[in-house]
Amino acid sequence: QPTDRVDHMAREIDEQPDAAARILDTIGDDIANGALWRSLELAPFERLRLLACGTSLNAGLVIGGAVSRFGGLAHNIVVASEAAGTIVEPGTLTIAISQSGETADVLRAVEEGPRDRPMLALVNNLHSTLARNVDAVLGCSAGAEIGVAATKTFVCQVLVGTGLILSALVEFGRLSSGDAAHLVGELRSLPDRLATATLAARAAIPGIVDEVRHASGFIFLGRGAAVPYAMEGALKLKELTYRWAEAYPAGELKHGPLALVEDGTPVIVVDNGDPRLAGNIAEVLARGGRVVTIGRAGSVVDIPLGTLSPCGPLEAVVPLQLLAFTLAAELGFDVDKPRNLAKSVTVD
Ligand code: M6R
Repeated sequence: QPTDRVDHMAREIDEQPDAAARILDTIGDDIANGALWRSLELAPFERLRLLACGTSLNAGLVIGGAVSRFGGLAHNIVVASEAAGTIVEPGTLTIAISQSGETADVLRAVEEGPRDRPMLALVNNLHSTLARNVDAVLGCSAGAEIGVAATKTFVCQVLVGTGLILSALVEFGRLSSGDAAHLVGELRSLPDRLATATLAARAAIPGIVDEVRHASGFIFLGRGAAVPYAMEGALKLKELTYRWAEAYPAGELKHGPLALVEDGTPVIVVDNGDPRLAGNIAEVLARGGRVVTIGRAGSVVDIPLGTLSPCGPLEAVVPLQLLAFTLAAELGFDVDKPRNLAKSVTVD
């Protein structure tokens, strides 16, 4: 039921533009000149291993994409609870991503090593156990986040993490400082983009929620750089509304998930302009699915996506967060403390 109390999560969503602006003011120049990477005093790496859980894992997907796209370096994403036994080749840097720095699965994976390979922690809590157990630490500088659902820490992890990658690639000579400066220039538009997305989402989401509130399951789709955001949208929706939500690269739709689509099934598409999405949307509409597009002009939630090359359509996460938040609030659930979940998962 609607209430007049301000939930932490709502406030934390609204804080995202300022958090991004603060980060860019602090490290923007150090990204383009390589100083951010140098400050960590780590040896150069040839491949990247990203270790995390939940929302931090989705941030890792974005960060890993940047190292491959701009540096031509391989990366692998490791679910922290499944890290045991994975091969870590020489020249690998592991980045453990965790807002709390206390997630048991991440701590165990770091402990299991191998400890003769360098490890960096990207954390929001600089005084956490994870921060103490690695070779170097980088703060994602989101400020306190109280809501169990990670929102602004995700945005800040993505921003600082991709900034770190660009900075490292400049230092390694894999990215020119001119190109890096251009990319940082794009990142500097992020605070405004997040603010625009927040306004657009606050206007559009209540109507969408009215239409989909009785749906028992949701599908989230994206292609390329939009895929991690579709995954994050599905995670938020499950966590807060207790409804089923599945995320897929849109090309996978016809390999199974299309069978789930029936009259009225909500299919949320993060539309970053990939022309192949039109065919996927047509497939859903032909089965009576309710398509909600987030992205280009004419979308249900109209925000310009697809031009932020370092980290893809990051601002798409705002309508996705607000969709989950608004539906959960409408259903009368506690958006700050979803059932069965904790802010720091300290058991494995
Ligand atoms: O503190 P961490 O970033 O390590 O937490 C990892 C996950 O437990 C966390 O991101 C979880 O998925 C969020 N509650 C999702 O909103």
